[in-house]
Amino acid sequence: MAHHNSSVHEDVKDYYGKRLQKTSDLKTGACVAPAQPLPAFIREALKKVHPEVSNKYYGCGLVVPESLEGCRILDLGCGSGRDCYMLSLLVGEKGHVTGIDMTEVQLEVARKYMDYHAKEFGYKKPNVSFVHGYIEALSAAGLEKNSFDIIISNCVVNLSPDKKQVLAEAYNALKDGGELYFSDVYSSGRLTEEIKNHKVLWGECLGGALWWKDLLQLAEEVGFSQPRLVTATVVAVDNKELQDVLGDFKFVSATYRLFKVPKGKTKTCQVIYNGGITGAEDIFQFDCHYTFKTNEVVQVDGEAACILTHSRFAEDFTFQPPGGSCEPCCAKPKADTMDPFDLASRLGTRGGCCSTKSADCCK
Ligand SMILES: C[S@@+](CC[C@H](N)C(=O)[O-])C[C@H]1O[C@@H](n2cnc3c(N)ncnc32)[C@H](O)[C@@H]1O
Repeated sequence: MAHHNSSVHEDVKDYYGKRLQKTSDLKTGACVAPAQPLPAFIREALKKVHPEVSNKYYGCGLVVPESLEGCRILDLGCGSGRDCYMLSLLVGEKGHVTGIDMTEVQLEVARKYMDYHAKEFGYKKPNVSFVHGYIEALSAAGLEKNSFDIIISNCVVNLSPDKKQVLAEAYNALKDGGELYFSDVYSSGRLTEEIKNHKVLWGECLGGALWWKDLLQLAEEVGFSQPRLVTATVVAVDNKELQDVLGDFKFVSATYRLFKVPKGKTKTCQVIYNGGITGAEDIFQFDCHYTFKTNEVVQVDGEAACILTHSRFAEDFTFQPPGGSCEPCCAKPKADTMDPFDLASRLGTRGGCCSTKSADCCK
């Protein structure tokens, strides 16, 4: 396929393979944007990652969804493997994490520490593997269709010249009920050709950023459920020269979750969370609209009901037939509730997810 040898790929490989040596070489705050308070178990997992791996971290968000034990995870654009190793601890010895990246130099660092981490985590053998390939062509890289429970990605999709193809391949690689949980940079509008053609801006994860509304559109075209916004943080472009090219466009780093679940099941439903998820025993923050407190009845919109019944979360909830006063208003969440700029401004510099209310489906 033509895009495998596209000049964008070559420029990005050059950027991440040669120009950048370490996190602090980045010119803007686009990669590495959020400074969210991390849960203790994630901080502990990150501390165990080898420093050479962490020093080449160029992500822009936290990609740790809940309920990971035993899962098969794929990381799109894994780079030097920081998130893969953190997740390889969280999935446990019976789980598995695969990282795919097109830049050999990054993969070399990742591969160098496979045995180191297995030993550090007390595993008999590594539960990670690293594949050289393109995220637009997962099956061509040897990754089986319908084989992953979760796909994550941290600041990579914006770098692809063909985002729809990336989403389509991810959809195919997921098992039914599987989830794409990813952080990326989004723009406040469709970017100009001048910005898109600027190599440094593209390499810095700004020039290729999707207008967030286009993500909603692409996700739907590919077959995913409507993206659920988890968290968002404003990206600061502290570089006068680059800011001049960008003009009035604004950027956020945002995390969305997209599920591969049946379409058209839009009946609202009452759900009760049973507190069974590790690290979320009292509260499970599903997205920025639903926070489930253990044993509390929550009325959810039809899409959320469908996701919860068809995903790995099904066994963590009790479902009751639809009913209650907010049924007519919210078979689907409104598109503007998925606006990461609105969420980022509400969150201000706090970062993290807006978790003010539960049963918030009518807002
Ligand atoms: C901003 S870095 C993020 C790396 C890693 N996720 C992290 O958090 O450190 C982007 C990575 O995506 C990889 N990448 C970009 N476009 C890609 C593509 N189309 N196919 C495969 N890898 C790609 C680059 O090689 C680079 O390692």
